[in-house]
Amino acid sequence: MSRETALPPVESALHENILVLTLNNPPVNALSVEVRCALLAAIDSAADNPAVEALLLVGAERHFCGGADIREFGQTPQPPALPDVVKRIEDSAKPVVAAIQGVALGGGLEIALAAHYRVALSGARLGLPEVLLGLLPGAGGTQRLPRLIGAQAALELMLSGRQLNAEEALKLGLVDHVGEADQALIAGLAYSRQLLAKGGGVRRTRDAQALSEQETQRAAIEAARQQVAQKSRGLLSPQHIIQAVETALDHAFEDGLREERRLFLECLDSPQRTGLVHAFFAEREVLKAPETRAAMPRPLDQVGVVGGGTMGAGIAVAALDAGLLVTLIERDQPALARGCENIEKVYDALISKGRLSAAEKNATLERLSASTDYQTLDQADLVIEAVFEDMAAKQAVFAELDRVCKAGAVLASNTSYLDINLIADSLSRPSDVIGLHFFSPANIMKLLEIVVPDKVAPEVVATAFALAKKLRKVPVRAGVCDGFIGNRILAVYRQAADHMMEDGASPYQIDQALRDFGFPMGPFQVADLAGGDIGWATRQRKAATRDPRARYVQIADRLCERGWFGQKTGRGYYLYAQGPRSASQDPEVLAIIDTERARAGITPRVFSNPEILRRYMAAMINEGANVVHEGIALRPLDVDITFIHGYGFPRHRGGPLKYADQYGLPQVLADIREFAEEDPLFWTASPLLVQLVERGENFDSLNHSH
Ligand code: CAA
Ligand code: NAI
Repeated sequence: MSRETALPPVESALHENILVLTLNNPPVNALSVEVRCALLAAIDSAADNPAVEALLLVGAERHFCGGADIREFGQTPQPPALPDVVKRIEDSAKPVVAAIQGVALGGGLEIALAAHYRVALSGARLGLPEVLLGLLPGAGGTQRLPRLIGAQAALELMLSGRQLNAEEALKLGLVDHVGEADQALIAGLAYSRQLLAKGGGVRRTRDAQALSEQETQRAAIEAARQQVAQKSRGLLSPQHIIQAVETALDHAFEDGLREERRLFLECLDSPQRTGLVHAFFAEREVLKAPETRAAMPRPLDQVGVVGGGTMGAGIAVAALDAGLLVTLIERDQPALARGCENIEKVYDALISKGRLSAAEKNATLERLSASTDYQTLDQADLVIEAVFEDMAAKQAVFAELDRVCKAGAVLASNTSYLDINLIADSLSRPSDVIGLHFFSPANIMKLLEIVVPDKVAPEVVATAFALAKKLRKVPVRAGVCDGFIGNRILAVYRQAADHMMEDGASPYQIDQALRDFGFPMGPFQVADLAGGDIGWATRQRKAATRDPRARYVQIADRLCERGWFGQKTGRGYYLYAQGPRSASQDPEVLAIIDTERARAGITPRVFSNPEILRRYMAAMINEGANVVHEGIALRPLDVDITFIHGYGFPRHRGGPLKYADQYGLPQVLADIREFAEEDPLFWTASPLLVQLVERGENFDSLNHSH
C-alpha cells in the first residue's frame, strides 16, 4: 500500500497519563508489516514507561482499521504475525481502550477485541469480513468473539461477513460505549479518563463468559453447520469458521488459538482464497478506466428512461432507489400505464415481503414522472433508451432525443448487441452517445457494461461510471462489438454446450456439471429463465450471415417451434408443471434431442462431468482471450468481473480468466487443440492464449498494464 504521509506507521503521543497510539497507513490503516512492527514496539515501550497509565488505540483519518493488508496474502509472511501483536495487546498490564471511527474490520476488529474496552463513534462499522476473502478471522477473532457475544451472534457475523453499526454492536456487547464526539480521539480520551477515575483496570476478552451455557451454544453451532451445508456448498472457510468456534466451546483458549491458526493457514493456501482476493481487487480496478482518470463526470440528478418494459422498468427502479429524479417515456398511453405498473410491481413485491412500507413506496414514486412526450426530457442530464432491440426503432428514439435534450445531456442505449457507433453517427452529437448495458433484473443485477463507442467524449464515459456508483452497480468498460464482453463470450460457450448436447450429454447433465462447479444455474436453466424466444429471434436475424461451415445445432429451434420458450410458457428444456420453481426433466425434450442427433447423423456418446466442464470452460476462456486481445475488455480482470456479476460465475473461482490461470494456460491450450481435432473452426485457439503460453505468462500478467 502506498504511503501518502511522512508520519510513522504508528504514532505515539502522551496525553497526560494516557498513551495514544494512532495507526497510520492510509487509506484504511491496513495492518502491513510496518504497522505490526511499530504497534508491537509501541506497546512494549508503554509497558516500561511509568508515565503511562492506560493506552488508547485509534486510527488516523477516516477509519480505525480495515484489517490485515490483503496484498500480503500469498507472499512470504513477515514477522511479527498479527496474532502475536494482538496477544501482546491483550496481555498488557495497563488497560487498553480502542476507539473506533469509520471501519474496524477483520484484523482491525480483532485488535479492538484484544483491547480491554471498546468505544465506537456513532456511524462506525464493525465486522469480520474474512469469509468474503475465503479466510477466517486469524488473529484470535474466532476465539474471542464467541466468548464475548456467544456462538450464535459470533457465527452470524463471521459467516455473513456483515458489518454492524455502532448501535447494533453496543446491543450485542461487542462495544462498551457509543460516543457522540466527532473524533475517536476525543471520545476515546474521555472514556479512558473516566475508566481510570473509577479505577477500571485490565479486562481481557479471553476471560469473557458468553460461552458458558453449553447447550444453547452447541445448538447454535449445529444450526450454522446446516445452514452452511445448504447455502455455502463447496466453500472451505465457512466450514472452518464453524470448526474454530466449536473448538472455542470445547477447549482452552490457547488450544483454540492454535487450531484457529491451523485452519487459517489452510484457508490462506486454498485456491478459493486466491479467487476471492482476486475478485476483491478486480472490483476496485474496474473503476479505473482511462477516462475516469482523465475527465470529470457531468452533473447527474435527472434521468430519463425510454421504454418501460422489462429492462426500462428495472432501470427506472434502480435510478429511483439511488435518489434520482426519473422521467419514463413510452410510445403510447397504454404502454405508459404498463410501464408504470411494471415499476410499481417491484415496490409492491417488497411491501408484501415486509421490506418496504407503503409510505416509503409513495415517497420514492414522487420522484417518478411519466409521459409520452419527449419534450419532458429537456432537462434530463442522462437518458437511457431501452426500447425493442431493433436498429430502426432505436435510431428513431435517438433522433427525438437529439431534438429535445439539452446540450451536454448523455444519451445512452441499453442495447444488448446492436452497433452503438451506428446510433451515434446518426446524431448531431455523437460524442454524447454511450452504451449502458444493464442486466436483468436491472434493479438487482450488479453488472453494468459501459460500452464505449469511437466518438464518445471522455467525460461522458466518466459520467457513466459516476452513474454506476450512484446506482451501486459494478461498472465494466467494454468496447463495441456484437455482444460486448459478456454476451459475446456467452454466445460461444452456449454453442459448446449445444454441441455437447447434440453429441450425447443431456441438458440436465450439463446443467448439473456446471452447478457442481459453483454456478447457481446451468446454461439450459438460464435459457428457460430468460425465455427462448429472444435467442430464436436473434438466430433468425443472423441466419443469413452465419458461416455455412459452422456447426449449427437445431434443438433450440425445435423447442421454440413448439412454443416451448421456457418458464413463461410452462416448458422449455425443463417442464414447469407447477410453476417456475417446479422444474423437472422432460422425456419429450430428450426424444426431440434424439431425433435431432439422428437427423444430424450423430451417434451419441457418453460425457463425464469433468469433460463437460473442460469443454465449457475452454470455450469461455478462449473467447475471453479474444475479447482481451481485441481490446474489447481492457484487461483479463474486466472479463472476470463481468462474469462474476452478470453471469453467476462462482466468485471463489475468481472469474473465468483467473480460473484459467489456476488451471494452467498450457493445459487450456492443449484442451482446445484436442477438441479442434473434431471441429477446427469452432476450436480456433485465440492468438492471445497462444502468445501467453509461448511466453510462459498468464492472464494476470496483463492485469496491471493500464
Ligand atoms: N488491505 C489492503 N488494501 C486495502 C484493504 C486491506 N485490508 N482495504 C482496502 N484496501 C485498499 C483498496 O484496494 C483500495 O485501493 P486502491 O485505491 O488502490 O484501489 C483502497 O484501499 C481504498 O479501498 P476502497 O476503495 O474499498 O475504499 P472504501 O472507503 O470504499 O472502503 C473498506 C473501505 C470498507 C475498508 C473496504 O476497502 C474494505 O472492505 N476493505 C476490506 C476489508 C477486509 O476485508 N478486511 C479483512 C482483511 S482479512 C483479515 O484481516 C484477516 C485476518 O484476520 C488476519
Ligand atoms: P421489452 O419488450 O420488455 O420492452 C420494450 C419496451 O419499449 C416496451 O414497453 C415498448 O412499449 C417500448 N417501446 C418500443 N418502442 C418505443 C418507442 N419508440 N418509444 C418508447 N417506448 C418504446 O424489452 P426489454 O427486454 O426491456 O429490452 C429492451 C432493450 O434492452 C433491448 O434493446 C434489449 O436488447 C435490451 N436488454 C434486454 C435484456 C433482457 O434480459 N431482457 C438485458 C439487457 C439488455
